[in-house]
Amino acid sequence: MVKITIENFAQKEVIGQDTRTSALKLLLESGVDWMHACGGKGRCTTCKMVVIQGMENFSAITPAEERYRQEGRLGENERLACQSRPLGEVVVCVAEEYKLPHLRYSD
Ligand code: FES
Repeated sequence: MVKITIENFAQKEVIGQDTRTSALKLLLESGVDWMHACGGKGRCTTCKMVVIQGMENFSAITPAEERYRQEGRLGENERLACQSRPLGEVVVCVAEEYKLPHLRYSD
C-alpha cells in the first residue's frame, strides 16, 4: 500500500495500491488540487513536495530533480510530485510558495 499524508492540508491521506504511479497522479486522482504548471513534465518545480517523513519510501531521484537540486531549486528534503513515486508511507507538506489561492491550508 502507498499512502501520502499531507501534513499542512488537514492531514489529508491519499491511498494508492500501485508503486508505479507518480505522487502527482495519486494526488490528482484522489481529488486533491496540487499545482503542476508544466503538466507533470519535470520542467518546473511547482509540484514540489516538502518531505516530512519517509524520504526513503520514494523512488530514486530523477535526472530532472537532480538538475533542480544542483541549481538550488529543489532541497534535499524535497521531491517533485510528478517525478517521484511513493513506494510506501510518506508525509509531505505543500511548499509555501506553491500553495493554491483557492484552498485553505492548515498551517
Ligand atoms: S509539474 Fe512541473 S515539474 Fe512537476
